[in-house]
Amino acid sequence: MPEYWANLGVDLHLDLGAAGSRRARVELALRDAIRSGRLAPGTRLPSTRALAGELSLARNTIAAAYEQLIAEGFLAARTGSGTTVAVLPDRPAPAARPVRTPAPRHDLRPGSPDVTTFPVEAWIRATRRALTRAPASAYDYGEPAGRTELRAALATYLGRTRGVLAAPEHIVVCSGYVQALSLLSRVIGGTIAMEDPCLPFHRDVVRHAGAGVMALPVDEDGARTDLLTGAVRAAVLTPAHQYPTGVTLQPGRRHAAVSWARDGGGLLIEDDYDGEFRYDRQPVGTLQGMAPGQVAYIGTAAKSLGPALRLAWMVLPDHLVEPVIEAKRLTDLHTESIGQLALADMIDSHAYDRHIRARRLDYRRRRDLLVDRIGGRYRLLGIAAGLHALLQLPGGGPGEDDIAARAAGDGLALTTLGPQWHAPGTPGLEGLVLGYATPRPAGYPAALDALARALA
Ligand SMILES: Cc1ncc(COP(=O)(O)O)c(C=O)c1O
Repeated sequence: MPEYWANLGVDLHLDLGAAGSRRARVELALRDAIRSGRLAPGTRLPSTRALAGELSLARNTIAAAYEQLIAEGFLAARTGSGTTVAVLPDRPAPAARPVRTPAPRHDLRPGSPDVTTFPVEAWIRATRRALTRAPASAYDYGEPAGRTELRAALATYLGRTRGVLAAPEHIVVCSGYVQALSLLSRVIGGTIAMEDPCLPFHRDVVRHAGAGVMALPVDEDGARTDLLTGAVRAAVLTPAHQYPTGVTLQPGRRHAAVSWARDGGGLLIEDDYDGEFRYDRQPVGTLQGMAPGQVAYIGTAAKSLGPALRLAWMVLPDHLVEPVIEAKRLTDLHTESIGQLALADMIDSHAYDRHIRARRLDYRRRRDLLVDRIGGRYRLLGIAAGLHALLQLPGGGPGEDDIAARAAGDGLALTTLGPQWHAPGTPGLEGLVLGYATPRPAGYPAALDALARALA
């Protein structure tokens, strides 16, 4: 059965059978395509001249086939808009797509920045500038480690703002923190300690990459790094602002972590997901700055710009650079290059710094409003930094699930502490992980009103 491609600006794929006249074969192919839904109502067909050229048939043959299908109601001809696929009255309704749950009216779930503030204009300017300067090779396959422009920009930026000791050769650009965690888990293997509580999704990522997960308890001084033993090969930590409790890893625990890694050859995986956002004092330095040979540092653009970019970066100790680059190559060759070039330009032009400063100011105001509205009655943890705080529920009152259910009835989506524990219901501590960056600015006060109602 010969196959033809016709081109009219849109591609049209027709299977012309071998039986019948040429006109009948064209009619049959179009009828089948329309009946099966492959050609949707409204689709514009090629001109008779274009289709005739593509199929090496006479134009009259195509015109006659179109006329026949118009008469049968499969096609519609409108002056000025050519021939289009008609709506068939007896066509079965298209299979229902899975319905997405409607967006809640108010959303205080953590995880996202205010995505309505994505710096569209700055990103477009950076992309235009970067692509104007980029060599043609930028559109070709690239290095698994990432674009040199971005790795150079990050090396300077991370040293300046986060105290990370990073040479561009030690940086690997990847698709989100998730991919960094996945690649490292695969390369390291064995059992990896993860904070308890932590994001359940990240535990799944580590397991999916073939590593085991061990719970590392968290208290008010951060992760219990003093409990790390030789049974684990690596420990994933959120030292600047623990997710979800918001506590900062205290100096004693930092030293314990570094000693464990130095003495036993373990690796510290530092998730610096919201390290740019510190409100009350200078940003807390990174573990990587203390022990670059023992720490795989991971930063992400998910909070600073937007999760949609899927842009993150690892700063690796010497011995992990090659294995991680190889794992990256075997996973997806490299992260797409255009976004990398745009981000490099934004960092070099300081547009990235300006955006983060503006966001920091806004999130700090939101944090203050949260403390004003809720802080008098409830203990709020982790308010010094980041985009979320943990509201600790006192015992004896309604539990987190009851409050979340009441909130849901009022159109407010909340995240409870429960699922973040490695073992469900672990220590009896109940709370709500409040993502105060999530709502649009105009919707934030109303979201807090809804929260107050749920807690009342
Ligand atoms: C603890 C933590 N780490 C990292 C990230 C960022 O992940 P990614 O870069 O894959 O979007 C998030 C996002 O919500 C997070 O909560």
